[in-house]
Amino acid sequence: MINRRQFLKIAGAFGTGLATGGIGPLLNVRPAAAQSQPNQKFIADLDIALKATPGQLSIFPGTPTGVWRYQAQVLEGEASSLVNLEGSYLGPVIRVQKGQKVRIRFTNDIPDETIVHWHGLHVPALMDGHPRLAIPRGETYIYEFEVHNRAGTYWYHPHPHGRTGPQVYGGLAGLFIVSDEEEKAAGLPSSEYDIPLVIQDRTFDYDNQLVYMSGHMMERMNGFLGDWIFVNGKPDFTLPVATRAYRVRLLNGSNSRIYKLAWQDGTPLTVIGTDGGLLTKPVYRRYVMLGPGERIELWADFSSFPMGSETSLVSLPFDAGMLGGGRRGMMGNGAALPNGAGFPVFRVKVNRLEKSGPTLPKRLSTIQPYRIAEALNPQYPKTFELLMRHMAWTINGRTFQMEATAPHERVKPGSLEVWEFINEGGGGMGMMGMMNMPHPIHLHGKQFQVLQRYGVRHEGYVDDGWKDTVLLMPGERIRILVKFGDYPGLFLYHCHNLEHEDMGMMRNYFVESVNNT
Ligand code: C2O
Ligand code: CU
Ligand code: CU
Repeated sequence: MINRRQFLKIAGAFGTGLATGGIGPLLNVRPAAAQSQPNQKFIADLDIALKATPGQLSIFPGTPTGVWRYQAQVLEGEASSLVNLEGSYLGPVIRVQKGQKVRIRFTNDIPDETIVHWHGLHVPALMDGHPRLAIPRGETYIYEFEVHNRAGTYWYHPHPHGRTGPQVYGGLAGLFIVSDEEEKAAGLPSSEYDIPLVIQDRTFDYDNQLVYMSGHMMERMNGFLGDWIFVNGKPDFTLPVATRAYRVRLLNGSNSRIYKLAWQDGTPLTVIGTDGGLLTKPVYRRYVMLGPGERIELWADFSSFPMGSETSLVSLPFDAGMLGGGRRGMMGNGAALPNGAGFPVFRVKVNRLEKSGPTLPKRLSTIQPYRIAEALNPQYPKTFELLMRHMAWTINGRTFQMEATAPHERVKPGSLEVWEFINEGGGGMGMMGMMNMPHPIHLHGKQFQVLQRYGVRHEGYVDDGWKDTVLLMPGERIRILVKFGDYPGLFLYHCHNLEHEDMGMMRNYFVESVNNT
């Protein structure tokens, strides 16, 4: 792998020090009734204390690395609801059952304002971690919600405005895994054979400290790209396996890197799940494009592998568009490992013989497809163009405003709408047409269904099932069907390239209250 480079950059930004850029001014728009006290009427099945805190971790020999990390503790409920990843900066895996009532007492102990968002979960607006709810160091925000989501691989990460990129990069992220009866009935590999893996990229200086951004404009336009690939917080990750089948859950937890995932030997990937849980049946892909924020679940069968053999999951080379072209791209930011470079993601070592194991189920789950005829606007999708304006990424030419919504961003509870995201760069061969790069688009609050894609030149998408984040490569357009929930209030939709999000490629949508209609 590529060597750590010398950076003329601010290093050692995490740990107890300030992150690059310092503390932004606290916006005084927090609702007066901020959640600082538990609601006595909310009887939690699981009550946990979670904090974001500076820490030190030995990642490489020598100086420990300063990080920011989530740490948690079960106050009430099953101790097995939290699974710590040994020696990783990542937060504990939070494991819950559908239908459980969860209270999370979140304390901010980092020198920056922050708030936690539960990516993929359907929770009330005040529980969703909107940036206007960010708390300063020393304060506590209490989350209380019932888990309505079906079984699936969700995750949690910070969401303060303009500071999400550096905070996630510093180490603040963790998985939130939901199980349910339907999933149990599918008979998939479980416990030690159910492996969640978080893929990220990081850059270190010679003193083992994380290096984030140079502040260079082009780097901001592209998004941060690290030159080491990390899995579950570890470089050069190896997964030891037995000769049997596994369920492998993959989260792209990187700030802006896209992975074109494939098995090294060319065996197609057997995909059993996406963002919002299991598909109805397995699908096969030679490779899967996984954008930041997206999840994919694989059935990985090593039963025909000889003892001692190895394979790896790799990211194949691809064209990431003009801005992502690295050194050779016209606008390249000179990233040592450009977006679209090929590299191994992790190694698999077969080191244990097991004679029996489960076989791949033909049916995994039931998904009721939305009917376009039932949408409010079957013929006239609401369109959202991903555009560069005045050297900033925008949605329909707008950037984030803390509480503002445009008329088309207001929706009725329970309504089914067609939304269309367009990444065609404003058309033509002009400068705008060239200023075109991938954008992973994410909606808070609800899982949605993909209706159709246009302009796709490859086979690496898994658009089946429930999604909350969809990758749009340059030239692509996608139509989704989203049914808004009954929780009123402000929710976000944004590009999950965290540097794009931080520069304002994010907007609110507003769900009106039921009695308002
Ligand atoms: Cu995973 Cu608004 O984010
Ligand atoms: Cu989210
Ligand atoms: Cu973007």
